[in-house]
Amino acid sequence: MSYVRLMDVTKRFGVVTAVKALNVAIGKGECFSMLGPSGCGKTTTLRMIAGFEDLDAGEIHVGDRLMSSRRQNYYLPPEKRDFGMVFQAFAVWPHLSVYENVAFPLRIRKLPAAEIAKRTHEALRSTNLLHAAQSSPEDLSGGGKQRVALARALAINPDVMLLDEPLSSLDPHLREEMRFEIKELQKQYGFSIIYVTHDQSEAMALSDRILVMRLGVAQQVDSPLNIYTKPANKFVFSFIGLSNFLEVLADAEAARTPDGLALPIGILPPRDMCADRRTFSLASRPSEIDFCAEDGVRGVVLRKSFLGEIVDYQIRVGEQLVRVQKGRRAPGPDTGEACGLRFLAPHWYGPEEEPES
Ligand SMILES: Nc1ncnc2c1ncn2[C@@H]1O[C@H](COP(=O)(O)OP(=O)(O)OP(=O)(O)O)[C@@H](O)[C@H]1O
Ligand SMILES: [Mg+2]
Repeated sequence: MSYVRLMDVTKRFGVVTAVKALNVAIGKGECFSMLGPSGCGKTTTLRMIAGFEDLDAGEIHVGDRLMSSRRQNYYLPPEKRDFGMVFQAFAVWPHLSVYENVAFPLRIRKLPAAEIAKRTHEALRSTNLLHAAQSSPEDLSGGGKQRVALARALAINPDVMLLDEPLSSLDPHLREEMRFEIKELQKQYGFSIIYVTHDQSEAMALSDRILVMRLGVAQQVDSPLNIYTKPANKFVFSFIGLSNFLEVLADAEAARTPDGLALPIGILPPRDMCADRRTFSLASRPSEIDFCAEDGVRGVVLRKSFLGEIVDYQIRVGEQLVRVQKGRRAPGPDTGEACGLRFLAPHWYGPEEEPES
């Protein structure tokens, strides 16, 4: 059942529409990510949910509580929303001990002293910070500081946790470790997570569902698997994972590249797409192309690079380049050799859906 609901939410800054008529429903206990390139409106959306930004149109509900409504001119201030929040910058207070950093929001809420002590202790224990309780956060590493921010957010027992690129200032190894910790905490506490990132592997690893945004507009909301294997459009395809786009001219009978290389029978766009256009993009993942003998798309190996576990090939097909990646044990052609390519999971898009780089 949906818990956090955004209905037709729109936000403008002058002439820029940062978020456009966004509709999203997030379940209780769900981990939901917002993913997209810089400036696509992720932080603005999160800030509207948190209550730091007003709405230009639409409504936000959490459970049976109204948070913001343009129509009703209603706006619940952030401190009354009771969400946990962690942002990219290490927002810890250096003049307070780790313990006091975590206890602070509880003191503001004027909870009884025993309750403050209990919750602070519990949040520090969950984030492995008990040993550092009396230290200054300044003495902790980047990961440690982010743990303090996480503990502080946990202490208020939120049912929604808003996280805006909380791991992006950490080194890759630590980032991976903290991903697991966040998931563990979620399991333990049962809160919903709304997670902002422009790192697709982070979104994939953490999320039950992902919203992909572009220029303030939702492109697709789906499971990580569906986002990867069934991208709704060319932009989503290009944003998630490595991608090839081969330009193809085709009708319902035959296909060729614009420079005249005929493609094997069977490589055709879906019939219904051929009604009103002749130009297509054949999208593929480098890992979803096989080498084959005579019956594939003809190409020549321009470059073959050994990357450790995988070998990366750049194949010239007519005047275009196609990237292929194979495990290092798989046989493959050498530089300069001719080869055939078989597209294992081709996706066809119209040329009008230009991906943003
Ligand atoms: N306070 C503001 N005043 C004016 N324009 C703003 C403001 N905040 C955001 N914008 C604009 O709104 C758009 C969306 O910005 P937002 O910060 O939400 O993007 P983002 O997806 O979080 O990007 P990033 O990945 O870089 O953090 C951008 O065009 C940005 O310049
Ligand atoms: Mg942002």
